Amino acid sequence: MEKVIGKILQGYQPACVVMAANELKLFDQLKQPATAKQTADTLNLDPEATERLLNALTSLEIITKENQTYQLPKEAHEFLTTGGSHSLQQWIQLSSDLYPVWGQLSSFIKSGILIKSIMEMLGGDPHKMRAFTDAMHDKALKATWMIAREIPIGDAKTMLDIGGGPGTYSLEWCKLHSHLKATVFDIAPVLEVAKNYIESYKLQDRVSTQPGDFHKDDLGDSQYDLVLMANILHMYDADISKALVNKAVKAVKPGGRIVIHGFCTDEDQTGPIDDTLFSLNIGMLTEGGRAHPVQEKIDWLKGAGVSDIHHFRVDAIPTGVITATRRGAS
Ligand SMILES: C[S@@+](CC[C@H](N)C(=O)[O-])C[C@H]1O[C@@H](n2cnc3c(N)ncnc32)[C@H](O)[C@@H]1O
Repeated sequence: MEKVIGKILQGYQPACVVMAANELKLFDQLKQPATAKQTADTLNLDPEATERLLNALTSLEIITKENQTYQLPKEAHEFLTTGGSHSLQQWIQLSSDLYPVWGQLSSFIKSGILIKSIMEMLGGDPHKMRAFTDAMHDKALKATWMIAREIPIGDAKTMLDIGGGPGTYSLEWCKLHSHLKATVFDIAPVLEVAKNYIESYKLQDRVSTQPGDFHKDDLGDSQYDLVLMANILHMYDADISKALVNKAVKAVKPGGRIVIHGFCTDEDQTGPIDDTLFSLNIGMLTEGGRAHPVQEKIDWLKGAGVSDIHHFRVDAIPTGVITATRRGAS
């Protein structure tokens, strides 16, 4: 038990090492080999403290050290450096932003009241909103890639991506299926970021954006072959989530498919570990949000008029996927 607790208590330290290195742009610097002194001089850091950080990064096996020279291995460039094809930079930055929130966990447990609204991170400050949306993209890439390949979409031609953020899911799905056209529905400022991603994927002809508020606006009636809600329901309590599921199913053509992707705990809510921790995380950032258990989501779907419900987990973050078909196909 002592060992287990000791290991758990150390958990935030490696995270802080990676977050500090990311914030200081050390990984960009270490694309080329450099000593601690050279790195510190270039980035205007304290040489001795820099050496400690570089040694810790080496023991975490993120960089290498040879003859007092440190380097980020080539295979890590795409994940950790600016402009990398699978960049995790904004995601790491988001973890840094959430770190002070986790420091107030006991306050949340006492009061049950959120610590900081997640929509604040999107609303007022355009820079933060862009960073958050970029982080969603970085984070979504692996899950998107896996889900798009796991779910056969047949000859589906139209897709609605509700709360699609940067549009990662629509873009990866359209990249895979040349017959598919997608609409990314989100609030207007987030869609400005999505437009950049759509251009960078060169998919302007098949991926469009639709600004709106999914609580207030109509999302269509029997209009789409495929409707996706990725990482949306965890922001809301059960009543609001159920209403959103009803709206999403209504937008699907009879015989078409709905996909719900996101954090969801198993029935007794004690696992998977990422999902139970996320439930605390989102509790501190929303009013009533949680990683709703799989069965609860399935019940909402059944109530909304679907059949052929499948639940599976992918090896990504988050893991949960539920797919179903809208009843009523002729
Ligand atoms: C956690 S992000 C998920 C983004 C994307 N689906 C993904 O998984 O990468 C939630 C998204 O919902 C959007 N959103 C939140 N409230 C909304 C509302 N009332 N109407 C439209 N979009 C909303 C946010 O702007 C954000 O892009």
